[in-house]
Amino acid sequence: MKILVAEPLSPAAIALLQKQSSWDIVVSNPKEYEPHLADCDALLVRSAVKVKGDTLAKAPKLRVVARAGVGVDNVDLPAATAAGVLVMNTPGGNAVSVAEHTLAMMLGLARMVPAATASTRAGKWEKKKFLGNELRGKTLGVVGLGNIGQEVVRRARGFEMRIVASDPYVNPATAAHLGVELVSLDELLSNSDYISLHLAVTPETRGMINAATIARMKDGVRIINCARGELVDQNALCEALVSKKVAGAGLDVFEPEPLPADHPLLQCDNLIATPHIAGSTEEAQEIVGIRIVEQLVEYLQNGVAINA
Ligand code: MLT
Repeated sequence: MKILVAEPLSPAAIALLQKQSSWDIVVSNPKEYEPHLADCDALLVRSAVKVKGDTLAKAPKLRVVARAGVGVDNVDLPAATAAGVLVMNTPGGNAVSVAEHTLAMMLGLARMVPAATASTRAGKWEKKKFLGNELRGKTLGVVGLGNIGQEVVRRARGFEMRIVASDPYVNPATAAHLGVELVSLDELLSNSDYISLHLAVTPETRGMINAATIARMKDGVRIINCARGELVDQNALCEALVSKKVAGAGLDVFEPEPLPADHPLLQCDNLIATPHIAGSTEEAQEIVGIRIVEQLVEYLQNGVAINA
């Protein structure tokens, strides 16, 4: 059995993999993994390696693609299915890290931390310019109440926020248990001071934050996206940031990634931008790494497919 690790995995995850003494473990990287595809049985990736039809065609023995992370948008699922290749991921493994980053975005926006840092470093002392707002008493709208959305809710409650959520797949009992009011998306958009996106890209959700939905939001709303760039019409958001209809946005994800440095969105001073790092903590990388190796072993040894 040949296992190809095509992207950096935590040392603990590699050590766990190497315990399978009869397996040939090849640890490579996104620039050099391709020649190893020819005879590999399993391919471990994070988000940099794109597993499309051409990749699958180069790996005739491949049985499983294991994605250490949540989103499988770097894997062509229909092509993998057609090739008889199982795709598995690790939902929930980085939920706390993404939720903490979301809270960092909210606090960063409320208190303008990046802009105040730049100003202070430039030798200014602009106390009036950086008059902030408390999170306490504000309404947070969580769009998508899955693993990550729920972790955001738990943390935001500590800030004494009113929290509403919209998710057609969550039952009211789960929401009530979390202390969250389930509302329609329309209601959430028009009543929230902060709107945070925690959902996958589907034909229904692609571009859901656009000129029309922004128009329905409160003036001065703040928008956070630590999910996927495709959920937001970036040009519409950019216009709303310039007009200040949207007081601020915290974006960890873009379309495309990386977003070109001259993109108008990156010129908005009320934007906080990070390079898709919400799930990148030492803890989360260790959890998703170990979890994906455990799942892989379970599948290749016992035929049990978890999170596939
Ligand atoms: C995920 O899908 O797990 C996160 O976006 C982080 C990543 O891309 O690895």
